[in-house]
Order: sequence, then C-alpha cells, then structure tokens
Amino acid sequence: MKKFSVFLSTVFTLMVLASSAFAQTTVGIVLPTKDEERWIQDQNRFQSALKTAGISAEVLFSEKDSAKEKSNVETLITKGIKVLVLCPVDSASAAASADAAAKAGVKVVAYDRLITGTKNVDFYVTFDSFSVGAEWGKYLVSQAKGKGNNLYLYAGAASDNNAFIFFAGAWSILQPKIADGTFKIVNSDAAIKLQKKAELTREEEASIIGQVTTNWNPNDAKSKAESHLTKATKAQKGIAYVLSPNDQTARAIADVFAKDKDIKKAYTTGQDADKASIQYIIDGKQSMTVLKDTRVLVADAIKTAITFSKGETPEKTKTYNNGVIEVPAKPSDVTAVTQANVKAAIVDSGYYPASLFTGLK
Ligand code: GAL
Repeated sequence: MKKFSVFLSTVFTLMVLASSAFAQTTVGIVLPTKDEERWIQDQNRFQSALKTAGISAEVLFSEKDSAKEKSNVETLITKGIKVLVLCPVDSASAAASADAAAKAGVKVVAYDRLITGTKNVDFYVTFDSFSVGAEWGKYLVSQAKGKGNNLYLYAGAASDNNAFIFFAGAWSILQPKIADGTFKIVNSDAAIKLQKKAELTREEEASIIGQVTTNWNPNDAKSKAESHLTKATKAQKGIAYVLSPNDQTARAIADVFAKDKDIKKAYTTGQDADKASIQYIIDGKQSMTVLKDTRVLVADAIKTAITFSKGETPEKTKTYNNGVIEVPAKPSDVTAVTQANVKAAIVDSGYYPASLFTGLK
C-alpha cells in the first residue's frame, strides 16, 4: 500500500514537472525485444505514464539485434529527440548508439541495463541488480537443509552487463555456503574451480557465465538444463537448488526439472514477476521471483528526461563503472516474491489485477 501511494505521488510529480517543462520536448525510448514479457511490461507502463504526463515520446524495439538498435536510435535522432532512453541489447555494442546521440546533442539515459565502454552515458536508471542476485541466494539458502545440497547454476546473457551484477549478488550469498559444504555445485567446472573465492573478477565471472548462460533465451535454458540432467548422477538429483536467472528461463528450467523422475523437488529462482511466473508460483511450479516494479523505473526514466530537458542534473544515489566513466545512477529497490507474499506484493500493491490468476489465496 505504501509503495502504491509513493507511486501515485510520483505520477503526480511527473505531471507537474512535465506541464511546466516538457510541452514540446520529445523522448526516444529503445527497448531490446518484444519476445520477453518483461519489455512489453516496460512499454505498457511507459505508454500510460507518458500519456498521464503529457509527454510526446516514441518507443521502438530492437529485436535483440544491435544493428537494429543503432538504426532505431538514428531514426529517433533524425526526429529531433532531446533525450534517448536506451536499454541495450548488448551493453558494449550500444556505445556506438550513445556516441551518435551525444554527437547530435541528445542526452543519453541507460535504462535497466548499463551501456559500457563510452563516456557518453549521462545517467543510468536501474534496479538494484546486485540485490536481485542476493535475493536468489538468500532464498536458496533458506530452503537448504544440512550439507551437500545439489546446486545448479544458470545465468543471463554475457552481452548484458546485468548478468554479471546478478551473478555477483548471488555469489556473495551462495559462495560462503558452498565453502562450508551446504551446497555442492553440480553443473559448472568453472564455478567449482572458483568456489573458494569470495569475490570474483569480471573474467572469473565470465568463465562461469560462459558455461551456464541461458542467453536470456528459454530454448537455450531448456536444452542446457536437459543436458545437465542427462549428465547428472542420481545422487546429484533428489532435491535440487536451481539459480535460474529470470522468469522466462526459470519456467523453462523448472519444466525440465519437473519432468525428471529422479528429481523430487527443484527450488527455482527468477525475476521480473512475469504473469506466467506468478501463476507458476501460485501453483508451486516456480519457487520465487523478484519483483522489479517497472512503474517505478518508468517514472524514474521520465523524471530524468524532464530534468535533463530543463538543463538540470538528475540526482544520483550511486555510480556504476562502465569501463570508461563512473555513470551517475539511481538504482531502485526490488522485492522477493514467494507463495507466502505473492498476493500482497503483486495484487494488493496494484501491480496486476487478481483476475489474471487462478488459485490465489
Ligand atoms: C535483464 C533485465 C531482466 C531480464 C533480462 C532478460 O537485463 O534486468 O529484468 O528481463 O534482462 O531480458
């Protein structure tokens, strides 16, 4: 309830800010793909918030293709945008788009995923991705009993800077529990090799992510999980603790584990609060997700765009190193969602209506 009223007051603030400063300013928004519910969510939330705030803006999708992303950005620059809000397909490749925008005098706001390898990122609105990973770790630890529990690791796309931050957050919680014998890693030699190291370098993380990446793709997640279970011994099955990196891949992985007769139970993590995963959580088919309230991220992005359009500097609460500069940023909080709090976090908060789900208590 508190979150919802914070949200309403944010919307109101946006309306006031927009009416004074933004009548003719336009914003270009570029999102990575329509293949994932996550980004459709962002699009829908953007459209309604922009309408409320009376801002003219265009949302384009990049079809998971950096070349398409670049041409989207060029189209928007030609249309005279003043602020670009870009969620990159590939954090490094997007530097070229950011550079083109900066050259045209357009302010660049990285949205959700950081743009790396360029000085031309003016601000970064995001969620606290380290906490997303830490919530996964905490959940799995909370379900583990005794020693030697089977741990399966999966990760996002190596081209997405967030995949590293999520993994680092998870590792910060899981590694001490691997070191003390609570968990035994089943499916990554690279992770086993590094299991005594509390903090990993980017290269070390890359070596693990390279082995267990889903590429944010449910088909990749499915075939990886299938081959892991084909190789696993009976002793490596039983109860499985699965670090699955987002809802779409979590459902794919959970389905594979559910089909294996030697798996008694699989605890699975996720993020994004996809509608299908909320139903999976209600039905006990996915154990948890992390709600990243896209209403908050959208409001932050619009507020940032308005601030830039007035020639002012948005307030940062943190910086993220993108390999070239410390990018000023505002990460927002995330909420772990399990069967225990799904109604409060998802329905009572106004995020989704109860009518979308069955069996909600
Ligand atoms: C991440 C994003 C997640 C998830 C994933 C796959 O960068 O933060 O919410 O959707 O990409 O697109």
